[in-house]
Amino acid sequence: MARWADQRVLVTGGAGFLGSAVCAQLRARGVGELVVPRSARYDLTQPEAVGKLFADASPDVVIHLAARVGGIGANLARPAELYVTNLLMGTYVIEEARRREVGKTVVVGTICSYPKHTPVPFSEDALWDGYPEETNAPYGIAKKALLVHAQANRAQYGQNVIYLLPTNLYGPGDNFDPEWSHVIPALIRRFTAAAEAGTSPVEVWGTGRATREFLFVDDAARGIVDAAERYDSPEPVNLGSGEEVSIADLAHRIAALCGYDGEIVFDPSKPDGQPRRRVDTTRAARYFGFRAQVPLEEGLARTVAWYREHRP
Ligand SMILES: NC(=O)c1ccc[n+]([C@@H]2O[C@H](COP(=O)([O-])OP(=O)(O)OC[C@H]3O[C@@H](n4cnc5c(N)ncnc54)[C@H](OP(=O)(O)O)[C@@H]3O)[C@@H](O)[C@H]2O)c1
Repeated sequence: MARWADQRVLVTGGAGFLGSAVCAQLRARGVGELVVPRSARYDLTQPEAVGKLFADASPDVVIHLAARVGGIGANLARPAELYVTNLLMGTYVIEEARRREVGKTVVVGTICSYPKHTPVPFSEDALWDGYPEETNAPYGIAKKALLVHAQANRAQYGQNVIYLLPTNLYGPGDNFDPEWSHVIPALIRRFTAAAEAGTSPVEVWGTGRATREFLFVDDAARGIVDAAERYDSPEPVNLGSGEEVSIADLAHRIAALCGYDGEIVFDPSKPDGQPRRRVDTTRAARYFGFRAQVPLEEGLARTVAWYREHRP
């Protein structure tokens, strides 16, 4: 790819959690021009809005991050919304980039696309070996369909679209909204509140035995921008940290960081989600030298500190 200084880069979802970190990376690398559309002006579920955005921005590179995302609660409450918005936004963005012959398009998928019982670590080759875990299947399948679209467009039209699969993300700037938050911000919010109010116990959804791998948001952003710079092939590529942690262990670590020393009760009547998660990052290391830098303990401490400073 040509130098960032010569590129006009459109980052859909660029004002969101991951998007803000990606934009910070691009600025640090001296990007020529950065366009960050907001949903209020360009609703990317509408094809006319996507057409107008590309006409206004005329990008050389597109990084597509706009999405409706949430934790297990949001996925259970709004499966149809998560399916259709993510499918439509990605479809229209990839098509418009093809029509306008954009030089490079980066589509960001999700670990929720993997089959429920994928052998750990998840290899990209296992992506189609089964149905995703039921609670996040509509979201995961909508995102996975965009990989098929990207590969089909590359095969038929030679469009340069790459596809990345980050594991669960966390970090400063995450969404702490009770309805939409993922597990780390949800636990930080609840343990902080209980510590301050002196209440106990705190209930955590599921058995606590499910495992997750968390990637610090700045590491994910660096991986995405490195891939935009150096990776040009059709195969999907995982981005992960290599650290697998049980929800019970995670809850205890977050409780300690939030100053909560009361009881933690797991509620097995609530879903665990996927039983285990950790991705194989061999491809990312080989193709664009990716390696996560921020260990979970440090990332959690930075996220708790950010929450203390920025919460409403
Ligand atoms: N968070 C994770 O753990 C995680 C893990 C793996 C992959 N990902 C992927 O990473 C990407 C970013 O996720 P995130 O966690 O940063 O989400 P986020 O903070 O909710 O940001 C998503 C952004 O998408 C935009 N958006 C939503 N609906 C839109 C619409 N109809 N039209 C235009 N823009 C719309 C929003 O823009 P406005 O602010 O202008 O409304 C928002 O800023 C997504 O593709 C997600 O699937 C996330």
